[in-house]
Amino acid sequence: MIYCILSDIHSNYSALEAVFKDAEKNYNINEVICLGDIVGYGPFPNECVDFIKNKCSVICAGNHDFAALNIIDISEFNDYAKTAIQWTAEKLTDNNKDFISNLKPYSYYRGVELVHASLSDNISEYIINVWSAVSNFKLQKSFLCFNGHTHTPVVFYQLTEHKDARAYRFEDGPEYYVLEENKYIINAGSVGQPRDHDPRASYLIYDTEKNMILNRRVEYCIEDTQNAMRNAGLPFFLIERLKEGKWSKQKSGCFSHFINFIIFCIIIILGAGMEVDELKDLIVKIIDDKKGIEPEVIEVRDYTTIADYLIIAEGTSSRHVKSLTREIISGVKKKGIMSISSEGLLEDSSWTVIDYGSILVHIMDEAARKKFKLEEFWKIEIKKIKKMIEF
Ligand SMILES: [Fe+2]
Repeated sequence: MIYCILSDIHSNYSALEAVFKDAEKNYNINEVICLGDIVGYGPFPNECVDFIKNKCSVICAGNHDFAALNIIDISEFNDYAKTAIQWTAEKLTDNNKDFISNLKPYSYYRGVELVHASLSDNISEYIINVWSAVSNFKLQKSFLCFNGHTHTPVVFYQLTEHKDARAYRFEDGPEYYVLEENKYIINAGSVGQPRDHDPRASYLIYDTEKNMILNRRVEYCIEDTQNAMRNAGLPFFLIERLKEGKWSKQKSGCFSHFINFIIFCIIIILGAGMEVDELKDLIVKIIDDKKGIEPEVIEVRDYTTIADYLIIAEGTSSRHVKSLTREIISGVKKKGIMSISSEGLLEDSSWTVIDYGSILVHIMDEAARKKFKLEEFWKIEIKKIKKMIEF
């Protein structure tokens, strides 16, 4: 069987058409699956719902689909998303509203789990990193789960049930991934609003005979969608956002590579003097200075290769989480050290992660800290590993 798996179309009909053209031209598709967020943000909600309901054998509901029907509260959405949802709610036909109202965010289909967001919270949790993947693997009953919601294609996998999760990002290697006997959570990325610095539409091909997942990236006419958004009076930020990522790795020129290399060298030279412990102390000081709540440092270097230290701290609100994250990044940068990555500045911003290689910094709001209990998780893991070492 060959499945075409789509997610987060977000009323972008040009992108959806381009994806289908690509899939039908290159593969003998048996079934199409949609993981939700058919509407929201973009200018063609009815066209997308009509298209999806005719083509797909399984359709999950996403948070934007439910928000457009007032099924979920939109107070946590940012202002742009709220404006677009209100516009969408006015445009959707009664027929399409009726259709969406019967969708579910989770489905178990032919031995595979399909969900919009995550298994612990089908509609709104972001699986953005291995930490959130670990807690989801505990709830996963099949070997394979497909999801969407983060708008970023990625494979999270776990070798056995009790080990950490790991991530494979298609942008770092081949566009295919061969499934073995692990547990997987695989994100399809977004058809209509990618957020991984590559503006091309993203979707997956799942070939069950070859046991292979393929992440396809498809060019489409972004300007057509942008013009329709302008005509609809949708927010400027959302229109511009579609172009983000034009300067992706493959497309940037030699000159910008050279400049990036020089900046990287300068940073390495300037930052070379700082030891891991000094960096840890600096981060904790910034958190304290900016009124971050209860920063906790966990030394994990003897128990895992992922980092030497984890720093976990709390913000009083999603705005505070964001500002703490920014303050840490800029405060550390002043000492000549750049983060390898920072993730999680998403719509609800309840959890961000900054990766300094030897130090991973988690900033969470109170609800996220209570829900994911990272400190507890790591203390239990360390105990288990200590026991293993003792034997
Ligand atoms: Fe989405």
